[in-house]
Amino acid sequence: MKNKEHLTIVDSSFNVDYSNGDIKGKNVITAKKYLKDLPNIFGDEEAFSKLDDDTLIFEVQAILPVDEGIEGGLFYGKTIIHPGKVGDEYYMTKGHFHQKIDRAEFYWGIEGEGILLLMDQKRNTWAEKIHPGSLHYIDGYIAHRTINTGDTPLSFGACWPSDAGHNYQEIIDRGFSARLIEVHGKPKLISTLK
Ligand code: PA5
Ligand code: NI
Repeated sequence: MKNKEHLTIVDSSFNVDYSNGDIKGKNVITAKKYLKDLPNIFGDEEAFSKLDDDTLIFEVQAILPVDEGIEGGLFYGKTIIHPGKVGDEYYMTKGHFHQKIDRAEFYWGIEGEGILLLMDQKRNTWAEKIHPGSLHYIDGYIAHRTINTGDTPLSFGACWPSDAGHNYQEIIDRGFSARLIEVHGKPKLISTLK
């Protein structure tokens, strides 16, 4: 971001639509994740194989005002998870620890209803409810995944350090130690610990 001349007053570089959290401005990055981009994430492999590969599961918008990996900067993002299930398991993000594992992050609920799944390095897993106005401090050393438990899109905002990075490997290899499954019409955490 360039500094401005002394005494100038300018418009903000970015704007947010508060009705849905959409980020407006130059250099907004977007990424879409389809079912085919999420192998080894959902538990029910048979249900996964029966669904259309091109089903859109979630979308991310982000502003990266500095290069990824730079110490001291901040990134800002918005995720939309569409409603739906693979078998009895709700649509969700991949989930990750940060590459620099001590880095923390804020999430906040914008639209819809969901769950923030949290897991420490001892594989102890718990969750917080996400709803419009909920605010979540995700400490360093904690893996995080978000899950849409409603019938409408779940949108949430995020702000994280520009040197945090995303480490997906542990989750791809071992998953979280619990899955959020619909049981009798309600979300329930089911342990995967043997
Ligand atoms: O930086 C974050 O934690 C978020 O922007 C996530 O990357 C986003 O919600 C998508 O989740 P994941 O990267 O775990 O698939
Ligand atoms: Ni993160």
